[in-house]
Formats: sequence, C-alpha cells, structure tokens
Amino acid sequence: MNLLKMPIESRQDLGLIRREIAKMTKEAGYSPLVQVQICTAVAEVVRNVLLYAGKGGITARMRRDKFVVEVWDKGKGIPLETLAELENGTYKSKTGLGKGINGTKNLMDRVRILTSPSGTQLFMEKALNA
Ligand SMILES: Nc1ncnc2c1ncn2[C@@H]1O[C@H](COP(=O)(O)OP(=O)(O)OP(=O)(O)O)[C@@H](O)[C@H]1O
Ligand SMILES: [Mg+2]
Repeated sequence: MNLLKMPIESRQDLGLIRREIAKMTKEAGYSPLVQVQICTAVAEVVRNVLLYAGKGGITARMRRDKFVVEVWDKGKGIPLETLAELENGTYKSKTGLGKGINGTKNLMDRVRILTSPSGTQLFMEKALNA
C-alpha cells in the first residue's frame, strides 16, 4: 500500500494503524528497529486523538525517501501552557503510560504541531537512511 488514509475512531483503529504502518515501513526498507520507532511514534499521537478528541484521522505515505504522517482531529486542541511545556521538554505526563508527544519527537526526524481550540494537526516524518 502506498497511501494509508483512515479514520481514527476506536481502539481497533489504533491496532489497524499499527499493523499498516508496520507493513508500509517494512516494504519501504526501514530497519526493524526504525519500523518499531515509527509505529510507536504514530501510536502515541493516535492514542491522544482517541483520548482527548474522541476521533480524527490519519494519512501516511512514503514521499520520496521519507515516511510522512499526518494525524488530525477536531477536538479542543492542546492547551497553550501544555504546548509550551512540550516545546521545552518540561511536560510531565499525567498518565505516565507512554512517552507521549516528547517520545514521538525523539523517535521521528521532524514533528510539527498545529493546534487551536478547533482542532489539532500533527505532521511527522522519518527519512529512509542507508
Ligand atoms: N489531540 C489532542 N487534542 C487535545 N489535547 C491534546 C491532544 N494531544 C495531546 N493533548 C494534550 O497534550 C498533553 C500531552 O500529551 P502527551 O501525549 O505528550 O502526554 P499524555 O497524553 O498526557 O501522557 P502519555 O501520552 O505519556 O500517556 C495531553 O495531556 C493533553 O492535555
Ligand atoms: Mg499521550
């Protein structure tokens, strides 16, 4: 598959997305370690959509030599204070379950967050290095 485009509405979707991303990154030639890194990074933001916005959507594809993912929702957005803490690395997760957005940032090459009271978009990419 060269384009994944699907809604995020339930825990089952999280499982489906993990499986599709694993397949796509394997096919693209990422190492097993990087396949897991990308899956983990994407799962964190998909989990956030389910938790904080209820539903949303995802697109993922290889663009040239990069795996590019966009996750969006129309929830209330990330509070500005939280966003600032995420930016400077001082955010402390309430649940402590995953590594959250800071984990996603560590695992991907680039993460861009656009958030407002009417929704959130996260763009992330990981290059396919030799
Ligand atoms: N899609 C979103 N919509 C609204 N708020 C969000 C969204 N994603 C994240 N947030 C807010 O940003 C905070 C930080 O998210 P992050 O994933 O880094 O940590 P967490 O969800 O609190 O904990 P963890 O992911 O480690 O279990 C969340 O607690 C939430 O308040
Ligand atoms: Mg989270």
